[in-house]
Amino acid sequence: MPETLIPALDDLEAAWNIARRDSGYRAELRRLHRDFIGRPTPVFAIPRAALAERGGRGASVWLKREDLAHTGAHKINNAVGQSLLAQRMGKPRVIAETGAGQHGVATATACALLGLECIVYMGSTDIERQAPNVRRMGLLGAEVRPVTTGNGTLRDALNEALRDWVANVEDTFYVLGSAAGPHPYPEMVASLQEVIGREARAQMMAHIGRVPDAVVACVGGGSNAIGIMRPFIDTAARLIGVEAGGRGDALGDNAASLGLGAPGVLHGAFTMLTQDAAGQVVEPHSVSAGLDYPGVGPQLAALAESGRLEVLRATDAEALETTTWLARTCGIIPALESAHAVAAVLRMLPELPADAHVLVNLSGRGDKDLGILERELPAP
Ligand SMILES: Cc1ncc(COP(=O)(O)O)c(C=O)c1O
Repeated sequence: MPETLIPALDDLEAAWNIARRDSGYRAELRRLHRDFIGRPTPVFAIPRAALAERGGRGASVWLKREDLAHTGAHKINNAVGQSLLAQRMGKPRVIAETGAGQHGVATATACALLGLECIVYMGSTDIERQAPNVRRMGLLGAEVRPVTTGNGTLRDALNEALRDWVANVEDTFYVLGSAAGPHPYPEMVASLQEVIGREARAQMMAHIGRVPDAVVACVGGGSNAIGIMRPFIDTAARLIGVEAGGRGDALGDNAASLGLGAPGVLHGAFTMLTQDAAGQVVEPHSVSAGLDYPGVGPQLAALAESGRLEVLRATDAEALETTTWLARTCGIIPALESAHAVAAVLRMLPELPADAHVLVNLSGRGDKDLGILERELPAP
C-alpha cells in the first residue's frame, strides 16, 4: 500500500473494531438488514424434476436467495455496513470500485439513504457490458467515473479508487466491494457478509435438521463465498469455491487465481494471483464482470492452501447454459457470477447420493446481464 494510506487503514481498523462491538451500530445494521435489505433471504430447493433432467438421483440442491436482497445481490450487506461506518467516522465523501456494477449500485443505494456523496470507479469494458447498472447508479445520485487503463475491468477500477483515496484521504471513506485488498478490508467484508451463512445454517437446520453436505459459492474477490462459508468452517460440510474458467485453462483465458494462479501481492494482500512466470499479473477473462479479477481474498487462499476449501472451475459456456436452464426450469434468472456455482453443482449431480443436501449461494439476479445474454445466446 502507498505510505499515505497506512494511517487511513489504521484509523479504519480502529473504527471498525469499535463499531463491530457497539450495540448502537449493531442495532442499526440489524434494522437496515430487516427493513431496507429485506433479510433474512430465504433458501429455496430446486424442484426434484428439474434436477432429474440433469442426472440427479434424489440429492437436494438449496439456493440461498441473495438475488432477493435489495438491489439484487449480496453486495448490499457489505455496502450498508461500510457506509454506516463512514457516517460514524464523519467522512462525507464515499468512493467505491465496481466490476459487475452490483457493488457500485449497492454503495450508491446506501449513500443515498445515509446522505453521503458517492463516486464509483468502473472500467470502460464493464461500463459497456453492465450498462443497466450504470444507469441505476446515476439515478441514485452517484457519479460513475470510467477507467480506461488496462483491460478496463475490476482491477483497473480498484487501482483508480486507491489513487483517489491517496489524494483525498482526509474526507473520504473507501467502500471496498469484496473480501480482498489491504487489511482490514478482507476481515471487515467477511464479517459483514457472514450474515448469509448464519441465516443459511439456521434455515438448513429448520428444513433438514442438520448442516448440508456441501456449501458452494462462486469466487470473484471472494465475499459471497467467505460470507456463506465462514459459519460452516467448523462443521463437516464440504466447502466448494467455483472460479471463472472462462474460455479455458491457458493464462489470460480465465480468472482462476486459486486453481491456476500462484502466490503474490496485489492491492495490499498476499494471496493467489493469475500471473506469468516473471510474476507479472495477467489480465483475467470471464464472461461475468464480477468474477473478472486476477486476485482473490486472502482468507479463501488460506482455506484452499490448507485443503479445507475445494476449488472448481466453470467455463463461460457452462455459466451461460446454466443461466438459461435455471431461468426455464425454476423461473429464476441468476447473475452470471452465481450461475458458475450452480453449473459446478449440476456437473456433480450424477455422483451425489440420494440423501445429499447441497447449499449454493445464489449471490445475485441476472437482470444486469440481459445485454450479454442477448449477445452470447442464440435467439430462442
Ligand atoms: C452477483 C455477484 N456475485 C458474485 C460476485 C463476485 O464477488 P465476490 O466474490 O466478492 O462475491 C459479484 C461481483 O460483482 C456479483 O455481482
